[in-house]
Amino acid sequence: MKVSVIGAGYVGLVTASCLAELGNKVVCCDNDLKKIKQLKKGISPIYEPGLEELIRKNLKKKNLKFTSSIKEATKESEIIFIAVGTPSLEDGRADLTGIENVARQIAKNMPGYRLIIEKSTVPVNTGEWVKKTILAHIKGKIKFDVASNPEFLREGQAINDFMHPDRIVLGVDSKKAKELLLNLYKPLKTEILITDIKSAELIKHASNSFLATKISFINAVSYLCEKTGADIKEVAKGMGLDKRIGASFLEAGIGYGGSCFPKDVDAFINIAKELGYNFELLQVVKEINQQQKIFFLNKIKNALWIIKDKTIGVLGLAFKPNTDDIRNAPSLEIIRTLKKEGAKIKVYDPQAMPKAKAVLTDEIQFCKSPYQVAEGSDCLLLITEWQEFKELDFLRIKKLMKQPLIIDGRNLYEPKIMKKLGFKYIGIGRSANG
Ligand code: UGA
Repeated sequence: MKVSVIGAGYVGLVTASCLAELGNKVVCCDNDLKKIKQLKKGISPIYEPGLEELIRKNLKKKNLKFTSSIKEATKESEIIFIAVGTPSLEDGRADLTGIENVARQIAKNMPGYRLIIEKSTVPVNTGEWVKKTILAHIKGKIKFDVASNPEFLREGQAINDFMHPDRIVLGVDSKKAKELLLNLYKPLKTEILITDIKSAELIKHASNSFLATKISFINAVSYLCEKTGADIKEVAKGMGLDKRIGASFLEAGIGYGGSCFPKDVDAFINIAKELGYNFELLQVVKEINQQQKIFFLNKIKNALWIIKDKTIGVLGLAFKPNTDDIRNAPSLEIIRTLKKEGAKIKVYDPQAMPKAKAVLTDEIQFCKSPYQVAEGSDCLLLITEWQEFKELDFLRIKKLMKQPLIIDGRNLYEPKIMKKLGFKYIGIGRSANG
């Protein structure tokens, strides 16, 4: 099938590459000329395992092409995905300027029937506005449909999530739209929920907000573990064995970050507010998430007493492993606070350092390895649970450090093992703390 994807960000680029891999002819469009120039050469603007290979392979097969012209993307394909960004405005609402602009441009350039699909995360009712916008700018009596097909992929495992999703949600209001989408997704063997557009839009915000709630819930319980000597890993395991609860997204840590959960929880609170509902539950989810970083900073202060002039080593900058994304990464706030209190900061991340260099000041030392970070450090902070950090030579680390202290924000290590190795080890809600 001929498909266009407008927006070559995380979701757009993965959607375009995967649909091309499934044998469709895909045009991927973005107004960032520099990005398009790189993509035409097969260079991915983001680090996502397997993505660059997929782009190169499908460019070569001529299943995938890149353009900066929405006109071209609209003319070429009957199916058009809108996957442009919907960033947060200052008050937490989603900024839909990009969506409106793309809808207008599609309307002006439609040569015949087009199915326009919202792939970006958008507030409920956006589909209605997209329809109105297209009707206002369309030339002549051309038929079209609008649909909602939210994406649930996670960064770091985006291709696998796209190709093997738990479910596909199709919000449609015409037989033609339903058939086109069912045909497009035929190769993916999974449950398909066909529903109305508004429900599909709500499913996305409700899902992300629920997952964020699960994380804040387990983080709150981790505090109780610390106060009582219970172990959060055991508690989460015991809860997760109940199929109604499920084991995933019960990892306590320094809180959720990234470009989705913080933004989507804010947007959902605002959507509810506009509809007359005070979503206090999500307000508290947000507060717990923020508190988690403060608790972590307190652990550092409690362990080191005076922060000024201490050397603090940071392992991991990305908001999660297998990505170079540092948007809303807890690392940034933690580093900035420690820096303000006079600490000397050394950092290492396998992928995120180039992006971090652009936002963190020069006074932070970017290191070549975790061992260089450990050298002369009074304390090591584990911020992102990269596999590389799981396999460190801890005896070497211990020798390099000024004092053998590890504060683990992701519960990557086992307290007993770390103690045996001679470290003072502090995790999140672990029984061997303190
Ligand atoms: C999230 C959702 O999981 C995807 O389904 C969704 O498509 C995506 O947002 C989106 O809306 O685009 P993502 O932000 O890539 O995906 O990453 P997650 O794996 O969900 O992690 C989000 C944050 O929660 C990370 O900071 C992670 O460290 C944290 N987390 C996750 C925890 O602290 N504990 C957990 O148990 C799980």
